[in-house]
Amino acid sequence: AELMNRVPIIWIELQDCAGNSEAILRSDSPTIDELILETIDLEFNETLMAAAGHQAEAHLEEAIETFKGKYLCVVEGSIPVGTGKEWCTIGAKGETFEEHLMRVSKDAAAVVAVGTCATFGGVPAAAPNPTGAVGVQDIVRGKPIINIPACPANPANITGTILHFVLTGQIPELDHLNRPKFAFGYRIHDNCERRAHFDAGEFVEEWGDEGAQNNWCLYKMGCKGPMTFNNCSVVRYNSGTNWPIGAGHGCIGCSEPQFWDKYAFERPM
Ligand code: SF4
Ligand code: F3S
Repeated sequence: AELMNRVPIIWIELQDCAGNSEAILRSDSPTIDELILETIDLEFNETLMAAAGHQAEAHLEEAIETFKGKYLCVVEGSIPVGTGKEWCTIGAKGETFEEHLMRVSKDAAAVVAVGTCATFGGVPAAAPNPTGAVGVQDIVRGKPIINIPACPANPANITGTILHFVLTGQIPELDHLNRPKFAFGYRIHDNCERRAHFDAGEFVEEWGDEGAQNNWCLYKMGCKGPMTFNNCSVVRYNSGTNWPIGAGHGCIGCSEPQFWDKYAFERPM
């Protein structure tokens, strides 16, 4: 059964690894087929579409024209704006990623940046940031921008945002970093399954020690859960199968701005 108003989506990939496309393929409620066949009208996505080359480019132009002012522009990957931004070009006309984003986002109802690269520059923006990578909100102006960071963004948060738009025609309530409050309103640490061990002062001190074997708190091994806003501890990944801390590794703060530089090698003693 088809919903009356399936929201058109144009999903573009810039400096990315396609990890967010991979993540949404593993969405479980709704599943990707339910999403594509019943809820959204996925007009363009390089990883999933059958068309390629000139045919794909022509379809992109047609979709922008047909759904002017109505489509959601989903962006995956950062945008190189430094010297050498011409390193990344797309299509037969050799559009830079910046020109491409500007053209595709111009007539969108809203722009949804998925993953830490599209939101805050992510790994490509890590020092010394050779390409001058920035996030969507650094260069796109004049329309609502929704940021869904994490590496990759949790599919539950992507579909939650899209479904909110489908059902209400509005974007969800956002925080000061343009993140949906329903997903980024609390810290990893607030709902962590190891939190009782933190409160009891029971820490893993070395990989393989007694604490590690008993799932104690990973703070002393560098866990950034106390500084990281996201809902991984509640939603988990891969249909709720597991998440970083459940697998025995501390949170690296992958959904925070500049996490790569800010949190690397930091370990409280
Ligand atoms: Fe907090 Fe990390 Fe310890 Fe969990 S493992 S309680 S998030 S410091
Ligand atoms: Fe990322 Fe930390 Fe969640 S590393 S996936 S924000 S637990």
